[in-house]
Amino acid sequence: MIPQTLVLEGDCLKRMAELEAQPHQFALTFLDPPFNQGKEYAYLDDNLPEEAYWDWMAAVCRAVYRLTQDGGAIYFMQREKNAERVLGTLRETGWTLQNLIIWMKRTSAVPNGWRFGKQYQIIAFATKGRKPRAFHRLRIDAPLRPEYKYPREEGMFVTDIWDDIRELTSGYFAGEEAIRDKYGERFHKQQSPVALLTRILLSSTLPGDWVLDPFAGTGTTAVVARQLGRHSVSVELDPKNVECIRWRLGACREADSVLPLKHYYRFTPNLEQIWGDEVCESAAEEAVWAGVGEDIDATARQEPCSP
Ligand SMILES: C[S@@+](CC[C@H](N)C(=O)[O-])C[C@H]1O[C@@H](n2cnc3c(N)ncnc32)[C@H](O)[C@@H]1O
Repeated sequence: MIPQTLVLEGDCLKRMAELEAQPHQFALTFLDPPFNQGKEYAYLDDNLPEEAYWDWMAAVCRAVYRLTQDGGAIYFMQREKNAERVLGTLRETGWTLQNLIIWMKRTSAVPNGWRFGKQYQIIAFATKGRKPRAFHRLRIDAPLRPEYKYPREEGMFVTDIWDDIRELTSGYFAGEEAIRDKYGERFHKQQSPVALLTRILLSSTLPGDWVLDPFAGTGTTAVVARQLGRHSVSVELDPKNVECIRWRLGACREADSVLPLKHYYRFTPNLEQIWGDEVCESAAEEAVWAGVGEDIDATARQEPCSP
């Protein structure tokens, strides 16, 4: 099965209103909005008054709820200082909280003189209704802690603390996965790691499901969804980012491949069922998107399609 991958330019609230007329309902939404922390975005004000920002988030969560099938999931990522707001917004818009996931950062904590340094981001996992329609208890091959005597023969279950997924920070830490412009600068500073979306999609969807990303950025959700045989809709306001998503989907970069992660999840009993088919149609896509991505590093565009 070749999954459908739709990339829509525009405001997510408007696009989601249009999607309500479509027949498909979503199994999962990844919500990674601008955090309203005064970052520079070409097309939006990232410095809204607090109440206006949370009213906007509530409207987005409500719209996603309407588009979600019973038992479907939302993963809402935010700064830890907004935990209370996130939980309140989800509750008020109908969602049932399942976990407040701590995504621990690998780079050093943000230092602070009068409280502990901050080293994590939150991801609230909630569902439409009490029981998830799909939830896969993934097992990982996490490194053994020094206090453990014997290796775990079957790995361990993923818990609500995710300390094994490295963020794409600035500088060399970001590695090959970070998309760069022709000057070597990060194309989008909030690009999410492929490993993060792989975990989310494997946990809460099945092959053939529809996945939504209303704040798509560089399209990480779509890139992962397609490789795992899930259909996806990505909405992005900034036309340059939309161009990047389309380029990225066509480029099938090795750094975007989910395949190297499969070994890490090998102890998951039904892994073959939930992994889905890998699809890489770079030739066809490149024909469609030839000429786009001028600001993106041209060498990355020529990377071979992953196996
Ligand atoms: C935090 S980034 C998402 C990054 C993404 N997870 C990735 O992997 O690249 C948020 C994105 O939302 C986009 N955005 C902001 N307001 C929007 C809106 N009203 N509708 C759609 N996209 C919007 C921004 O342009 C930005 O690219």
